[in-house]
Amino acid sequence: MVDLVVKSQDIIDRILTLELVRVTERAAVAAARLRGRGDEKAADQAAVDAMRRELQRLPIEGTVVIGEGERDEAPMLYIGENLGTSLGPKVDIAVDPLEGTTLCAKDMPGSIAVMAMATGGSLLHAPDVYMEKIAIGPGYPKGIVDLDMSTEENIRALAKAKGVKPSEITVLLLDRPRHRAILEDCRRVGAAVRIIPDGDVAGVIFTTRPDDTGVDLYLGIGGAPEGVLAAGALRCVGGQMQGRLVLDTGEKIARAASMGVADPKRKYDMKELASGDVIVSLTGVTDGPLLAGVKFGKDVIHTETLIYRSVTGTVRKIAAEHREMGKFRLE
Ligand code: FBP
Repeated sequence: MVDLVVKSQDIIDRILTLELVRVTERAAVAAARLRGRGDEKAADQAAVDAMRRELQRLPIEGTVVIGEGERDEAPMLYIGENLGTSLGPKVDIAVDPLEGTTLCAKDMPGSIAVMAMATGGSLLHAPDVYMEKIAIGPGYPKGIVDLDMSTEENIRALAKAKGVKPSEITVLLLDRPRHRAILEDCRRVGAAVRIIPDGDVAGVIFTTRPDDTGVDLYLGIGGAPEGVLAAGALRCVGGQMQGRLVLDTGEKIARAASMGVADPKRKYDMKELASGDVIVSLTGVTDGPLLAGVKFGKDVIHTETLIYRSVTGTVRKIAAEHREMGKFRLE
């Protein structure tokens, strides 16, 4: 018989799911007002302000573990900042109020507002450094791809598991000179490569919907904070991901150690990047393959949001219409 008794913790989680949609919607609308203005900083700041304002209203005892930077360099949403009314569960918060700042400033596809919330102590406290990443979507045997295998081995293993030729695999890479060797290896095996200018949170998430996005495998080096956010979303749908921090200076090793990273060469799997119960929300700022961007109508603002919840594996796409009525402003 179905257990109809819902624990109070679950009720809080479920309510928070919708609350997170509000948070990323507000950040996305704030950033979208500055879309295509060529000013990354202003758009990012608008998203930060809006996201922080909404987070402060939530019934949580939240701590920012992935944020805008260290306390001395980021006045808002800094790592360690406490957020919420304190009248609720202790949670870790990871934010990227505007992921793809350049995309937004140039009004190019793929910028989003994104955040994750997880039970306290369950998100990797990642410093703002690079991370080597590999990710695939759900439905494959555990461990078929690995950061310590070569690009060719990963592509061949994935192709075999998918039941296709390596030439039918599409790899997604950020367009960076540091990825030249990976790109050449992909070409040698005959795989297709999708190259994106920015935005690897969405890039990793593309692997969870290969039928829609055409992407099977994410490879390469991007931001560590983005890696934790993407791992949170992947956890909800059962993909696979590994990440390894790029700690190539003594200063970075020391900074990571102060955040609890004892082994600088450690390879984290998806559940180590984001363990515990996690909710991830992303709202489109500009149009992209996952989400439509914010649309400003005459009296209505349209947003589109994906919200992931690990407890149930539910993914919802929420198309919202916002009206600014009376004194209410969506800011
Ligand atoms: P921003 O929104 O901070 O500009 O990040 C965009 C992004 O493309 C991320 O998606 C990615 O993880 C990171 O930059 C890669 O860093 P870099 O641009 O230094 O190669």
